[in-house]
Amino acid sequence: MKLAASILSADFGRLADQIRRVQAAGADYIHVDVMDGRFVPNITIGPLVVEAVRRVTDLPLDVHLMIEEPERYLADFVSAGASIVTVHQEACHHLQAVLARIRSLGVRSGVSICPSTPVQAVSEVVDDFDLLLVMTVNPGFGGQSLIPATIDKVRRARELLDAAQSAAELEVDGGVNASNAPALARAGAKVFVAGSAVFANGAIEGNIQRLREALAPVGTV
Ligand code: DX5
Ligand code: ZN
Repeated sequence: MKLAASILSADFGRLADQIRRVQAAGADYIHVDVMDGRFVPNITIGPLVVEAVRRVTDLPLDVHLMIEEPERYLADFVSAGASIVTVHQEACHHLQAVLARIRSLGVRSGVSICPSTPVQAVSEVVDDFDLLLVMTVNPGFGGQSLIPATIDKVRRARELLDAAQSAAELEVDGGVNASNAPALARAGAKVFVAGSAVFANGAIEGNIQRLREALAPVGTV
């Protein structure tokens, strides 16, 4: 099990310090949410901030692109230091080509699906991605509640990966907390993105500890 801390909920005035604390507390990935105000209503950060984050941590940077035409920016995010670049199935006309391009840039490729997108939408490209991100909320904002039906969808995603003998990591993102993480883990999730549940009240160390303890009975964290 891996924990990906989403900096969307961090205090951006103290971003470097908060990332160092997240790393010291044992997070596995730094999850960076990129939003363009078109694919999702919100606007967040671009390659410049990814570059700054890259300088303060050696953890893998898990870059989640919630943007239209992501192919236009892949090289920029890779140069900025991304380790995994995830695009949305819904934002790509030629998903296979986009995933192949990410790999050709020398980083891991990820594909994400919104709650209304069936798992089958990525079945034809299962050999082209290294990470499958199942959104457990509609993308756009931190601090939302997990949509309960997505837990069963995680199970279907796990079945798809297993049937294809894919080694891709199955990641969940949105409203993940210590209460619902065990059910997500039992459904087959391996990477848990958490924003609010990590940064709430600035109590990063205790929050990460709580998430780890919740997941410990389900498997090695
Ligand atoms: C939502 C983003 C998430 C978000 C998670 O669109 O993709 O990564 O930051 O935040 P929480 O854990 O607060 O739902
Ligand atoms: Zn995300």
